[in-house]
Amino acid sequence: MFSSFLSHLQTIAALSAITSLTQATTFSSTGSTFELNGISYYVPAVSVGKLQVNQNISSAATLNGGFLPLTLVKTNGTVYESSDLQLTVNRFLASDDVFQTGFLVAIYVESASLSQDRPNSRLTVNINSSLLDETRIQVIPLSGSSQLPEGPYFISSTGSVYEAWRLYSDFEGAFTETLVPNMAGSYSVLPANIPGQSLAVAVSSRLYYTKTAAKPLAGVRLGVKDIYDVAGVHTSNGNRAWYHLYPAANASALPIQRLIDAGAIIVGKMKTSQFANGEEATADWVDYHSPFNPRGDGYQDPSSSSSGPGAGMASYPWLDLTIGSDTGGSIRGPSEVQGLFGNRPSHGLIALDGVMPLAPELDTAGFLTRDPVLWATAASALYQTNISFTNTYPQKILLDGFPTNVSSDGDAMLLNFVSALAKFIGGNASAYDIEADWSANTPVDADPDLGSYLNIAYPIIISQEQTTLVRDPFYTDYGAIHDGRLPFVDPAPLIRWAFGDSFPKPAALDQANANRTIFRDWVASHVLIPNSSNHSSTACSSSLYLYVGSEADVNYRNQYNGPPQVPIGFSNGRISPFAENPDFVVPLGVASYFSNITQHEEVLPVTVDIMAAKGCDGMLFSLINDLVKAGIVNQTVPGYSEVTGGDILFKRNH
Ligand SMILES: *[C@@H]1O[C@H](CO)[C@@H](O)[C@H](O)[C@H]1NC(C)=O
Ligand SMILES: *[C@@H]1O[C@H](CO)[C@@H](O)[C@H](O)[C@H]1NC(C)=O
Ligand SMILES: *[C@@H]1O[C@H](CO)[C@@H](O)[C@H](O)[C@H]1NC(C)=O
Ligand SMILES: *[C@@H]1O[C@H](CO)[C@@H](O)[C@H](O)[C@H]1NC(C)=O
Ligand SMILES: *[C@@H]1O[C@H](CO)[C@@H](O)[C@H](O)[C@H]1NC(C)=O
Ligand SMILES: *[C@@H]1O[C@H](CO)[C@@H](O)[C@H](O)[C@H]1NC(C)=O
Ligand SMILES: *[C@@H]1O[C@H](CO)[C@@H](O)[C@H](O)[C@H]1NC(C)=O
Ligand SMILES: *[C@@H]1O[C@H](CO)[C@@H](O)[C@H](O)[C@H]1NC(C)=O
Ligand SMILES: *[C@@H]1O[C@H](CO)[C@@H](O)[C@H](O)[C@H]1NC(C)=O
Ligand SMILES: *[C@@H]1O[C@H](CO)[C@@H](O)[C@H](O)[C@H]1NC(C)=O
Ligand SMILES: *[C@@H]1O[C@H](CO)[C@@H](O)[C@H](O)[C@H]1NC(C)=O
Ligand SMILES: *[C@@H]1O[C@H](CO)[C@@H](O)[C@H](O)[C@H]1NC(C)=O
Repeated sequence: MFSSFLSHLQTIAALSAITSLTQATTFSSTGSTFELNGISYYVPAVSVGKLQVNQNISSAATLNGGFLPLTLVKTNGTVYESSDLQLTVNRFLASDDVFQTGFLVAIYVESASLSQDRPNSRLTVNINSSLLDETRIQVIPLSGSSQLPEGPYFISSTGSVYEAWRLYSDFEGAFTETLVPNMAGSYSVLPANIPGQSLAVAVSSRLYYTKTAAKPLAGVRLGVKDIYDVAGVHTSNGNRAWYHLYPAANASALPIQRLIDAGAIIVGKMKTSQFANGEEATADWVDYHSPFNPRGDGYQDPSSSSSGPGAGMASYPWLDLTIGSDTGGSIRGPSEVQGLFGNRPSHGLIALDGVMPLAPELDTAGFLTRDPVLWATAASALYQTNISFTNTYPQKILLDGFPTNVSSDGDAMLLNFVSALAKFIGGNASAYDIEADWSANTPVDADPDLGSYLNIAYPIIISQEQTTLVRDPFYTDYGAIHDGRLPFVDPAPLIRWAFGDSFPKPAALDQANANRTIFRDWVASHVLIPNSSNHSSTACSSSLYLYVGSEADVNYRNQYNGPPQVPIGFSNGRISPFAENPDFVVPLGVASYFSNITQHEEVLPVTVDIMAAKGCDGMLFSLINDLVKAGIVNQTVPGYSEVTGGDILFKRNH
């Protein structure tokens, strides 16, 4: 007995000698998980406060693995009664998805006014016990302030208080990695999982946050396209080899840092098609599986490259906002096919430090969301002084490729919107053909055929920029540690990169940009003229330019496409990338189609794209929010339909 004890001590001594020769052991909690009435919660490692606990709470917590659910409520009065509790609970349930009545196991009632005005008086708590759960341990009156906001918590046997984070399943596969914040402003991977065959996502109680002028996004749950660096975690750019090759980011990308500073909480990194190039579900998505578009039959392509942000916003009521990027349609496409508000901003509104480039002269950072009010608030936090919200609107509406008569529900929706918009701004809409206008008013030395003038500009710019800025250093770094091998890259970026390699570099890039900037300057002086150029209108932009975003278009993810193609050709979706002007997607409603999967009529989104002159982003945000106030445009909802919501078809939610 004695000798075995000695040898045990010697083993410990020997081990610690080895340890000290190599490195210090690190050991830390990454938090815990609990289930309360069938709902899963994550409890962070670090507590947010301490309360005095009595023996009853302490021993009950000890029996429950060290923790008890707790509800913290505040009152201004000296008496807190059953009716007060009922009102509090109703208020919590109406505004928060993390709180549930299961947190009434212990209730901490706090009166702020007592401590300030009458330090010697006592708070009386008088709650009818039949209101409460049988498992209720204790109601604790506190005269004073815990400095904690109201809401659901977990309390330890020693009185340490921890935030409650609810866990949801990313059952639509929108995330690449889900996150929780560290104290120091960086993020860690969420160390939790739940049923749903995908990642778990943790969201904290909405009751903890109060929006202020300094923190206009306080508590906003933000998803980040996985081309933006977030301090503390790896970036994938949609490529597995990239994720594992490079270390975790030591700082967040500038756009992300601005949103964090404004109070947003990042819940995770979201899927991007590889290196933000366009990819079609399913075959193009080799390294990662494409997220699922929840609308209609649930098996439509979610578009790309901000696929995860689009699918997540359209699927999850618990997600508020996502940030994507748009080089040639990567915010607009996912917004159009999933019925979301999405903005490709004017080029250059914010520097893209810490964001993977596709082509710096075309790359932009913008949002995908269901809520146009939050959208404008977030834009203000992101673009800061580069955006100004003006509400004088142009009277001229240009309609590019609009239906001229009604042959479907989508046509009716688009034309009704145009009439309502024209009436609202007191203006006139007329058909506009940009290629005809260009032919009739071609800049000196340019090709009067706009289609051939700009045919290859887009693929040349993105491929010659990205091969230099991303591919070449990636191949070098990967080869250096893998004996000269190449990493795996999906077919879509490879075919684009090969296209760029087949032209002289940088001569083709320079020529493509020369063509692009001539077009840009023509648009700014002839089509979408900014107020600063002294046009006759007092609005920021000489006109609004509308084109059809989506009209219940089908693009099944279970169809076998050919190999990916180089994105040559000109279309109205290329105007904003080339002309650098804002291009915002506005959802109008849904129209039906016959699904060859469900063999049933289903619905998909109808959306319009609205463009204005470069720099008039604030005018578009104001206009869209004014249209919301006038009932012409509505917030959208997650689920089967952007208008009525409903269960996503493959899954029963209730
Ligand atoms: C502990 O709980 C018992 C039974 O509910 C109660 O009678 C007692 O007053 C409680 N003790 C304290 C210190 O609150
Ligand atoms: C207490 O009073 C303050 C100041 O009037 C008010 O802002 C707060 O909402 C009140 N709190 C409650 C719980 O009624
Ligand atoms: C407590 O609530 C129950 C159910 O609402 C009610 O029947 C009972 O009279 C209440 N007791 C008191 C003391 O108010
Ligand atoms: C952060 O990482 C970048 C490269 O990713 C490096 O250039 C920089 O020196 C690092 N900064 C610090 C403070 O480690
Ligand atoms: C405004 O835009 C300019 C030009 O792109 C940029 O240099 C500047 O950093 C931007 N300002 C802010 C506050 O982001
Ligand atoms: C209705 O619109 C379609 C396509 O927009 C067009 O082909 C057709 O000629 C139009 N019919 C009438 C009667 O204007
Ligand atoms: C333009 O719109 C205004 C106001 O809606 C209307 O009074 C005017 O007749 C329209 N002009 C044309 C040419 O359609
Ligand atoms: C630029 O425009 C010229 C003139 O039309 C055309 O020949 C050329 O192919 C274009 N180049 C690029 C790279 O877009
Ligand atoms: C706008 O243009 C008109 C006519 O070309 C000129 O008289 C006026 O001074 C200009 N105003 C400004 C502010 O540039
Ligand atoms: C447009 O320009 C006019 C004249 O320079 C100015 O009074 C007006 O405020 C400007 N409007 C906007 C929206 O910038
Ligand atoms: C459904 O329609 C798409 C597009 O029209 C087609 O590619 C696909 O093969 C069809 N699927 C079935 C099961 O019929
Ligand atoms: C917006 O919602 C309101 C209230 O549900 C409804 O009356 C209105 O028709 C909707 N507007 C549009 C354009 O869908």
